Amino acid sequence: MLVSATAMLRAAERGHYGIAAFNTNNLEWTRSILTAAEQTQSPVIVQCTSGAAKWQTSFKVVSEIVHTLTETMGITVPVALHLDHGTYEDCFTCIDAGFTSIMYDGSKEPDFETNLARTAELVKVAHAKGLSIEAEVGGIGGVEDGVASLGEVADPAQCLAIAQTGVDFLACGIGNIHGLYPANWAGLQFDVLAAIKEKVGDLPLVLHGGTGIPTDQVQKAISMGVAKINVNTDLQVAFAKATRAYIEAGLDQQGKGYDPRKLLKPGFEAIVARAEELIRTFGSDGKGWAA
Ligand code: 13P
Repeated sequence: MLVSATAMLRAAERGHYGIAAFNTNNLEWTRSILTAAEQTQSPVIVQCTSGAAKWQTSFKVVSEIVHTLTETMGITVPVALHLDHGTYEDCFTCIDAGFTSIMYDGSKEPDFETNLARTAELVKVAHAKGLSIEAEVGGIGGVEDGVASLGEVADPAQCLAIAQTGVDFLACGIGNIHGLYPANWAGLQFDVLAAIKEKVGDLPLVLHGGTGIPTDQVQKAISMGVAKINVNTDLQVAFAKATRAYIEAGLDQQGKGYDPRKLLKPGFEAIVARAEELIRTFGSDGKGWAA
């Protein structure tokens, strides 16, 4: 049975470790993520954007896949199914579709007041149904799902106002961006993270753009209150690299190497291996039921 992400993230914040929130793209992806979580005995968040949901036809299908795989694979660790960067409308769609957690990304609203008012409304709706909810202050830079954002460092006073809505965890821009980091990236802004943490107390914080942040910086952020780390591109690169190696070695043309079960296997295994490595880096291995 899937759970909301509240208890696992509170435990992570208290215990100074991070929980990976891996984006899923299809059934193989979800199976890889669940395999990695089970093998490391780590709680995990499987999350999905509206673009990845459209690829799989709908949020409803994503939900059915995650619920059913968790059951048929006999997963014993806590799994939350989370909407990533949802619009106001996406939140309602995912609640109806059986998600156990939502993110309302109000950073794309025309003004902060709209973000605050809609976050407050959605907190009530989500909590009434037993779901956890993430909000965002300060846009995360980079391009995700075709949406480009320059990135904006969060204002600690705005973080406090959003925290006071009762939201369960908060994404705040601290120089992080989606996708691969440019060579001249300045790094995470730990002074901003410290100022936000001072305002919001024990509210678990979320680090978006988890791909390519140097390990020492991620671990420092975790020690300062980041409890959820979002990772998408990293697993895509791992999958693509393994699949390319298989094809470039001509293996798809030997015997029945073109069989999708053979063709997709190296990519599947690469995601499992990389997800396990990240789980260990974030320190949530063995924390299955720490909540
Ligand atoms: P990356 O693609 O950079 O890992 O970012 C993932 C993310 O933040 C999802 O919301």
